[in-house]
Parts: sequence; structure tokens; C-alpha cells
Amino acid sequence: MIRLTNVTYSYPRATVPALNDITLEVPAGQFCAVIGANGAGKSTLCAALAGFVPHFYRGQLTGKLEVAGIDVAASSLAQMAGTVGLVFSNPFNQITGARFSVREEVAFGLENMGVPLDEMATRIDAMLRFAGLAEMADRSPYALSGGQQQRLAIASVLVMRPQVVVLDEPTSQLDPIGSKEVFTVLRDLAATDAATVFLAEQKLEWVAAFADRVLVLHEGRLVADGLPGDVLASPDLSQYGLEPTRYTQAARAAQAAGLPFTAANLPVTLEEAVEYFR
Ligand SMILES: Nc1ncnc2c1ncn2[C@@H]1O[C@H](COP(=O)(O)OP(=O)(O)O)[C@@H](O)[C@H]1O
Ligand SMILES: [Mg+2]
Repeated sequence: MIRLTNVTYSYPRATVPALNDITLEVPAGQFCAVIGANGAGKSTLCAALAGFVPHFYRGQLTGKLEVAGIDVAASSLAQMAGTVGLVFSNPFNQITGARFSVREEVAFGLENMGVPLDEMATRIDAMLRFAGLAEMADRSPYALSGGQQQRLAIASVLVMRPQVVVLDEPTSQLDPIGSKEVFTVLRDLAATDAATVFLAEQKLEWVAAFADRVLVLHEGRLVADGLPGDVLASPDLSQYGLEPTRYTQAARAAQAAGLPFTAANLPVTLEEAVEYFR
């Protein structure tokens, strides 16, 4: 669970806040995506949920920020480790480089948590299967494809069973197939393990197809919050520097051209577009 109450945050010496009066609650089991133009505050929000704001970046935080029952400002990064997991956009920043195999890489975080050896082996095997990496368990992390490496980075965080998983544009380095693999794993995680999954993402088509909920940040403010179909089809999107998905664009163009497609709800995914243009 994530709960922000009037959270405002400014980086040291910044003249405008990077997060401005954000109030928000994300329940366990929800896959929530945040979108927004460059500089909107997505990465800052992810950093705040993982405690890097304010504990690493310093600066000034006001309001109340609670993640998995932890009052972030009153806690430390060490206290949050294991409960909240953060995945960066580039798996190279996450893979330790200290380990020779995929299995050992996944074991790394667990070893630091003092999990008993037999339990560790069971958890690692289950996580490798979940992330679709069981076949590559003995390979070097560097022999994997980009999509596999990002799933390894995610698996290394998930194996610690964090209650809240935060991912900052985890598919930015990935092709469509790799992106789909990652989104599928995240959706399964929220659905089957009741984890709270919070993701910053630029690829709106993936957000449309996979997320339960979409938030829009604009200049540090939360300006929209709702179901993907409602938020992504909203005419306000362009005001926030965002382009609707190509399915919504096609439906708008068809309407503008006077074609006989007039359903009130514009499509945001391929499946919805098929229905719309039927
Ligand atoms: N480490 C930092 N120090 C100072 N300002 C920063 C830092 N990181 C980001 N900012 C500023 O905070 C605002 C939000 O940035 P960011 O959270 O990175 O947005 P996004 O991820 O949506 O592109 C921007 O104005 C950016 O310049
Ligand atoms: Mg960012």
C-alpha cells in the first residue's frame, strides 16, 4: 500500500518543487502506472516511494509519505530495504557485476537478508521460473538479452518479496517483445502476490494494455487519476505534453473525417480499436 498526503518536495536549491501537493492512495494488488512529459516528476515520485527522496537526495519534503506502513521521512533506507524494491530503467545499473551466474545474482539480495539456505534455494527457483529465466540459471548475467537482463534485475528485487515494487521506466531499453515480457511479469505479480506495483512509463500502449490505473503528472502536480481507458482517451492528454495511443488517434481522425464511427468511448488498445471499428 502507498499513501501520500499533500506531499510536496523540492530538490536542494531548486526554486520550484519537483512534486507539488500530491495526495494519492494505491492499494495492495494494484498495478498503477504514472505517465507525464519529461521533467514532470515521475522519477522523483519513484525515488520518494523508495525513500531516496529525501534520504539520498536530501532537499525539503513536506506532507506525509507512507509506503507499506512505513513513514518514509521518519525511517531510513536500510529500514525500507526488503519492504520496498526499486528497479531502475537500465538493468546495467542494477546487476551487481559481482556474480557469475543468473542464479547467484538473484541470490545476492536474499543472502544479505539472512534467509536460511534451503528456503533461499526454493525461493530462487520459484522466482527464476516466474521471471522466465529458469533455463538460463547457470549463464552469465551478461550473456542475456536486454529483456532477459531487465527481468533478471526485476527478479533480483522481487525475490526479497517487497510489499511495494517501484519501477522507473523499466522497459526504456527494451524492444516490444522484451517490454511485453516485463509487463506480463508485473501484472502477474500484482494479481497473484497482491504486491503494489508502481511504474513510471513512457510507452502508453503498454500502460493501456496492462495497468489497472493511470496517473498523470504535469509540472509536479497530479493532474489525472483513473482507469487507463478514461485517462488515455481524455482530450486533456495533449495539454500535458503526451500523445494518445495510435488507436485513439485513429478513432479521432475517423471522427474528424466524418466516418460513421461515433461510439462515445474512444479506444486506447488494439482490442478496443477492433471493437470500435467493427
Ligand atoms: N537530482 C536532481 N537535482 C535537482 N533537480 C532534479 C534532480 N532530478 C530531477 N530534478 C528536477 O526535478 C523535476 C522532475 O524531474 P524528474 O522527476 O526526473 O521528471 P521525469 O522523470 O518525469 O522526467 C525536473 O524539473 C528536474 O529538472
Ligand atoms: Mg524520469
